[in-house]
Amino acid sequence: MDFHQISHDSEVPLYRQLFEQIAVKIRSGDLSKGERLPATRELAGLLGLNRTTVSAAYEMLEAEGLISGQVGRGSFVTGGADNEGVDWASLLERAEAHPAPPSLPPTPISFAMSRPSGALFPLDDFRASCEAVLARNDLATILQLGSPAGYEPLRRYLLDEARRQHLATANDELVITNGCQQALNLIGRVLLRPGDSVVVEDPIFAGLLSGLGAQLIGIPVGSEGLEVAQLERVLERERPRFIVVSSNFQNPTGATLTLAARRAIVEAARGARVPILENDTYGDLRYSGEPLPALKQLDDCGGTVLLRSFSKVSFPGLRVGWAIGPKPLMDRVRQAKQAADLHTDHLSQAVLLEFAVSGRLEKHRARMLQAGAERLAATLDACRQYLPPGTHWTRPEGGMNVWVRLPEPLDAAELLPRAQKEGVAYLPGRYFAVSRHEPGALRLSFAGLPPDEIRSGLAILGRIFAGELETASRGFEPAPAMV
Ligand SMILES: Cc1ncc(COP(=O)(O)O)c(C=O)c1O
Repeated sequence: MDFHQISHDSEVPLYRQLFEQIAVKIRSGDLSKGERLPATRELAGLLGLNRTTVSAAYEMLEAEGLISGQVGRGSFVTGGADNEGVDWASLLERAEAHPAPPSLPPTPISFAMSRPSGALFPLDDFRASCEAVLARNDLATILQLGSPAGYEPLRRYLLDEARRQHLATANDELVITNGCQQALNLIGRVLLRPGDSVVVEDPIFAGLLSGLGAQLIGIPVGSEGLEVAQLERVLERERPRFIVVSSNFQNPTGATLTLAARRAIVEAARGARVPILENDTYGDLRYSGEPLPALKQLDDCGGTVLLRSFSKVSFPGLRVGWAIGPKPLMDRVRQAKQAADLHTDHLSQAVLLEFAVSGRLEKHRARMLQAGAERLAATLDACRQYLPPGTHWTRPEGGMNVWVRLPEPLDAAELLPRAQKEGVAYLPGRYFAVSRHEPGALRLSFAGLPPDEIRSGLAILGRIFAGELETASRGFEPAPAMV
């Protein structure tokens, strides 16, 4: 196989370049079904790449259904061009820039999903809210087609709350969406043109890697969130269409922007006349420290759109989030929403409104804060206790995620199958990388697990990682002198 274009200087990680090039060869029919790919070691040698790079590319090809690995025999092409009928593979070719995280098979202990624990759902309170809505005289109206901007009583409630907290001005409007994910997608559809770029954090949650369809410019995330100096440099030389930034407990790192960073980002964006999409999906889940003003609050020029959601604090399956921003933009978002799916289910919104105004949401949030604090503390303790020396991890004050960096030469993606075999799952860093892949990084989503499972899971991970480190260090020992 011929791979002239793999470049060590590119911003695109090597494994992704290799994945894309092999995928094109398969989809175009250059590599045909049944053909055997070179062994990872062989191809790594041929291309002067690390074997783990080739394995990572093969793993993605397999996740895409393009190849299949057979134990002891190698990897074979299974997808690709068909000779007859519609050539779906080539029609869909442009869609695949960032492979989505795999849906991992269930394991007894999974740190893979950044979502609340179903075991903490207050089902009786939720049923009571449903019953109250079902008993209402206006149920028929709720069940009718409604406004694309959302169920009006909930929309009004959220807007009033936002105004009370100085998160919305008189010039702002609010549109309810199918979660924050849809708000990001709709704003992208309204604002992006072919060839546009968008500034995002690197690493960033996977929903943004594939969700926007724009060229992404990644700004590294440090312990205090997106690195502002880098953002300023990028804004000096590029003209991104907008910036997406997480103010609180960023997914996947858990980082929170300091007040100074918030001010500097608002200032830099204003200077460059670039809008900010402030993604505050996790802001309700602060377990310690003082809340900070939102970027939206600090921006008095109307350049910021705030995205929030019920997904993390209550029920992600109901798919209710919202965007607050300047009226002209939100009018267009409302139209895009109507074109996409008419509106978000009003029954879910009516139930959530009842859940909120009855005080049940606040009661549930208090419980989530207590459980979240315990789970985060258990995670940080267990990281300290079990992870091998040289491992670093973030120390968030809220949210659902801790970002772990294993010492070299450990590769989190390579070690995942071993962890899964022992009943523990996590997501390796590669699924969050924009252009800076850190092989040793992984995300621990702790919110879905009780503290004892967090500790058992990390004990298992710690043993696997330490064992591998030991093996690797033995491999590095200089050979004894031949005497
Ligand atoms: C940072 C971030 N933004 C958006 C979303 C999507 O949220 P929603 O369920 O509101 O669509 C998630 C979900 O994991 C997330 O982590």
